[in-house]
Amino acid sequence: MVLKQITHLTSIDNLTKEQINFILDKSKQMLNILNSKKTLNICKGKILACLFFEASTRTRLSFEAAMHRLGGNVIGFADASTSSAKKGESLTDTIKTVQNYADIICIRHPLEGSSKLAAKYCKIPIINAGDGGHEHPTQTLMDLFTIMIKKNTISNLKIGLCGDLKFGRTTHSLLQALALFGNEIICISPEELRMPNEIKDKIQNYGGKIFQTENLNEVINKLDILYITRIQKERFISEKEYLRLKGRYILDKKIMSIAPKNLFIMHPLPRVDEINPEIDNDKRCIYFQQAFFGVPVRMAILEIMLKI
Ligand code: CP
Repeated sequence: MVLKQITHLTSIDNLTKEQINFILDKSKQMLNILNSKKTLNICKGKILACLFFEASTRTRLSFEAAMHRLGGNVIGFADASTSSAKKGESLTDTIKTVQNYADIICIRHPLEGSSKLAAKYCKIPIINAGDGGHEHPTQTLMDLFTIMIKKNTISNLKIGLCGDLKFGRTTHSLLQALALFGNEIICISPEELRMPNEIKDKIQNYGGKIFQTENLNEVINKLDILYITRIQKERFISEKEYLRLKGRYILDKKIMSIAPKNLFIMHPLPRVDEINPEIDNDKRCIYFQQAFFGVPVRMAILEIMLKI
């Protein structure tokens, strides 16, 4: 297959369907390699810079693990207060500097559009590892991979996106990809935390079907996948408003007892109170497996974007 090269990955809409399918196929190969315990050297001599201006466990560590598994090296920071941003250095100056030390950069930053700005000034590939409440495209690729492994398809499914759809960047990227592949999406959120109109408008272009509700119990029986997210406390201006909305959706044994037997529960993690740990051993709860898939998927992304 001849694919247009992926230069930067700042939004899921940088990718065509063919490119997404190619990444998912490559991720399957990487998963097989990981499972066989073989070691790889395909990124030997390459350096990934992880610039994390905002907290992370999964994204940063799975990017680092992916690069190590490919035989490459990692530099970077996990806390912007230890970088020269603390002294007032601009993001663009940081990028103009780090591009001379690495072959590829993944960046998490609290400002929406920060990775796109970084890409404008960068001669090496930039990967958006989360830009404020905007997007998180590599999370979407591992979400799609999880769905592919569990359902054997990423098309013609009924998928519920639940929780904070206003600030939840993972759902912004995922909605676009799910619509691109012809799924029916049910957005479940309080009115105040609805999916932004600009994202919904974008998916109208490729005929995406969305239904909105506040009532999870009303729709849970119709779903193949329920993708639940935490309420993003750090993006609220008012603590009072956060406290009013938190705890609106909680998955526990009671709700799982009425949920379909073939429903899968996904969550990008971290969770706060929206999934009671009492259901973690329910076979339908696949969020920790989803987090593990961050490694093979990010191995695939690094290999493809480094043009190896
Ligand atoms: N899903 C995700 O982005 O997790 P982290 O914030 O831990 O990276």
